[in-house]
Amino acid sequence: MGIDQRRCRWWNAVVLIGMVSVTVTVTSSDSHEKQEQEVSRIAFGSCSNQNAPQPIWDAVVDFRPQIFIWLGDNIYGDFKRPFKIFGRERTVGPWKNVPRFVPSSEQEMKARYEKAKSSPGYVRLHQNAKVIGTWDDHDYGLNDAGKEFPGKITNQKLLLDFLDEPQDSPRRKQAGVYASYTYGPVGRDIKIVLLDTRYHRDPVGSDGTILGNSQWLWLEKELKGPATALTIIGSSIQVISNLSATIHPLFAMESWGRFPKERDRIFKLIADSKRAGVFFISGDVHFGEITRYDCAVGYPLYDVTSSGVTQSVEEVVPPFLRSFVRFVSLLTPSTMRVKGQHCRYKSCIYGRPNFGTIEIDWDSHPVTLKLKVRDKESITVTGVDVSLTELQLSNSESFDRVKAGHDNQKHCTLEVSLPWFVRYRLAILFCCTLIVFLVAFLVLVYTCFRLFRLEGCKRKHD
Ligand SMILES: *[C@@H]1O[C@H](CO)[C@@H](O)[C@H](O)[C@H]1NC(C)=O
Repeated sequence: MGIDQRRCRWWNAVVLIGMVSVTVTVTSSDSHEKQEQEVSRIAFGSCSNQNAPQPIWDAVVDFRPQIFIWLGDNIYGDFKRPFKIFGRERTVGPWKNVPRFVPSSEQEMKARYEKAKSSPGYVRLHQNAKVIGTWDDHDYGLNDAGKEFPGKITNQKLLLDFLDEPQDSPRRKQAGVYASYTYGPVGRDIKIVLLDTRYHRDPVGSDGTILGNSQWLWLEKELKGPATALTIIGSSIQVISNLSATIHPLFAMESWGRFPKERDRIFKLIADSKRAGVFFISGDVHFGEITRYDCAVGYPLYDVTSSGVTQSVEEVVPPFLRSFVRFVSLLTPSTMRVKGQHCRYKSCIYGRPNFGTIEIDWDSHPVTLKLKVRDKESITVTGVDVSLTELQLSNSESFDRVKAGHDNQKHCTLEVSLPWFVRYRLAILFCCTLIVFLVAFLVLVYTCFRLFRLEGCKRKHD
């Protein structure tokens, strides 16, 4: 063995040690993980009540996801309601968000997480797929709660236990559960950014912050960091759709649309970061839907919403009312909804249990993505095929494709800019129906009254 060879070996060892320590630093610096295996199948879901049957897991397992993403309401920790109004999850009036709906102890919340974890699909999934996630209000601990919720520190620990987060993970030391992950080899890499829309959130209607300062700084670093082929941003609440604008004043939903300044800020951040290949996934609303906004960054921004694993708008009404719910969905105006070829219903909204999937064909030219929402038989209920070239900055090709007839609408009009009779057509219809019923009732009462008096008069005469 010559001296040169020995020196060469010694040099190799130094390089190797160097590489190992660099890798270790990468994996252990902030909430960031790196894995080299190519990822082409991702599934996600939200709104999963641990007390309800969960047949959808068979379909999720059969999809063979490499990664499964929980988008919140992974369990219902605040599920103790005195009575039904519009289904089990709505609490109204004086009962809204009062402390009695919060688990009285850490043990109770923990028991609910444990129960969810022992569901058979969940366990099988755990063995085959990497499971990551964030939270929404019901697993945060209180319906529609934000930064004011006092149980958040305890519940952060419980959520991270549920997600099998390592004990020494930096995610256990920060305020909030936001995290980012990067998978796949360079050129075929996917960054998954999971936001925390609860821990720092100001009250709805305040037009304050959703993410809070520390999370914004972190997000900026994440998005302005090294480019990846794809970047998936997971938000528990919808980012693109602003359903509140069209169902107001009948209902109100939580969404980024209710915080217009924060919404503009995230769009601006994506645009400024010059990051291509970004899209959103979300949950929360109890139905599945795909939306896109074409005028935020230089390319269409998609938001694939899947909600929920057990909770859904059609399941809370008796079966004979389900077609009525579908009819109402059809009437709900939306300027952002993608009406692709794969919709189960004309509205392109799906109100039964569902999960979301992302399939990436890295070998096709150009690389293609299939974004879908699937039912419990794994059949697509709404979906869209996107080529990665469409998600590049200042690319007019995507808009030309829109014009070419795939979806012959450019999704740029905000819901609030719709003419009032379109925007409020649900409320108008509701009021008209109410008036018709009221008038019919009054006519009926009046007729009865007249008949009664006539009868009375006749009898007096006799
Ligand atoms: C969403 O709708 C709400 C309620 O109508 C409105 O206050 C808000 O400004 C809208 N947001 C956007 C981004 O249009």
